[in-house]
Amino acid sequence: METNEVTSMPRIGDQAPAFKAVTTQGDINFPADYAGKWAILFSHPADFTPVCTSEFMTFASMQKDFEALNCQLVGLSVDGLYSHIAWLRTIKEKIEYKGMKNVEVTFPLIEDITMEVANKYGMLQPGESNTKAVRAVFFIDPKGVIRTIIYYPLSLGRNFDELKRVLMGLQTADAFGVALPADWRPGDDVIVPTAGSCGVAKERMESKDEGVTCYDWFFCTKKLSKDAVEKALYK
Ligand code: BEZ
Repeated sequence: METNEVTSMPRIGDQAPAFKAVTTQGDINFPADYAGKWAILFSHPADFTPVCTSEFMTFASMQKDFEALNCQLVGLSVDGLYSHIAWLRTIKEKIEYKGMKNVEVTFPLIEDITMEVANKYGMLQPGESNTKAVRAVFFIDPKGVIRTIIYYPLSLGRNFDELKRVLMGLQTADAFGVALPADWRPGDDVIVPTAGSCGVAKERMESKDEGVTCYDWFFCTKKLSKDAVEKALYK
């Protein structure tokens, strides 16, 4: 399909590219409509396909979990609005999958038949498909800054525990000024940012800071309880 839009690949730390579009929930002005909230903008390859259906049912069943973290979901594919509406109606009326049934998708699903938005967000990746968006996930913070991007191919459904973990990780890093180690989950130790100079770091290593464990001068962790994380994130 022809489009006049230049393909771009937004990067972590960039302002989320702005666009206006039509969705299953009315018009959207992104990211302005989401100021003060987190947003997960995600693309799927096509309506009426099995992997996407399993993903939409999972997204919809976790929508309240994301909203409790001040995060709104926004979907997109290069299908038209009537296809979106018919597919979501089929999901609600006909599909029972892994204990999920009567699933109503109430978050907006963008129609992008011109591929304008998909091009702006680098969701079309020709090595994978020229006509369908890959499974892209953009985590956008309350100031409209892209904080994490994950891409999955057409053949692999997303891991929703990981999406929620990423959101909680970003919010925890912001709230507590810490970094998070491999496989971190709320309640696990967090990384104390490396002190400005080697001398300061060495001092910190030698002082018995409460709850701080240092593995070397550049690698110190401290306790951060699940309770403290949840209190900060679920307001
Ligand atoms: C799917 O969601 O099942 C799918 C979509 C496009 C290509 C391959 C699989």
